[in-house]
Amino acid sequence: MSLTKKGRTGYDKVIRDRAIRQHKMTHQVERQDSNTQGIKTMLKITINGQVHEVDVPPDMPILWVVRDVLHMKGTKFGCGLGQCGSCTVLLDNKAIRSCVTPVSWAVGKNITTIEGLSREGDHPLQQAWKDLNVPQCGYCQPGQIMNAAGLLHANATPSAKEVREGMAGNICRCGTYQRIEKAILQAADKMNKGGK
Ligand code: FES
Ligand code: FES
Repeated sequence: MSLTKKGRTGYDKVIRDRAIRQHKMTHQVERQDSNTQGIKTMLKITINGQVHEVDVPPDMPILWVVRDVLHMKGTKFGCGLGQCGSCTVLLDNKAIRSCVTPVSWAVGKNITTIEGLSREGDHPLQQAWKDLNVPQCGYCQPGQIMNAAGLLHANATPSAKEVREGMAGNICRCGTYQRIEKAILQAADKMNKGGK
């Protein structure tokens, strides 16, 4: 279909009107967000066995509290949408995406971050990661390790297929997937033989 000058003008107007509508809707949502997020509450949360009192909006994601309020930078921000896994932490030993989990959900539970997985950085997963030189750029790896820890809590003897399925939501832009799989199987083997 060929567009006449008049047709293009009409089309441009439709596009412009749509952009204006979207702009207004976005700002309306931002105003609503800033209204609800302005209400802070004192919350008591436990991270790596230590109790913290934080004065934050209850719907603030755990990732923000951990990184920006408590300055624990081991947990990484990736997509912010629950889709890459780089922000994974454990909540009562279950792997969760901290970028989309409100901090109020953690009250009365224990959050474990990469800093708290082991005292000396010598959890079998961390040792296997070192043995097999798993990281490349390293950015996704705290999330990979914490997701693996959640996986092994749920299933101490996973098959290679179960490891692949359990880790499928954790993205690695460097493509270290094969080493991650080997490291998890090595760590599981060590833990099942009584390794620390
Ligand atoms: S940053 Fe949380 S899943 Fe991507
Ligand atoms: S090691 Fe670079 S993103 Fe995973």
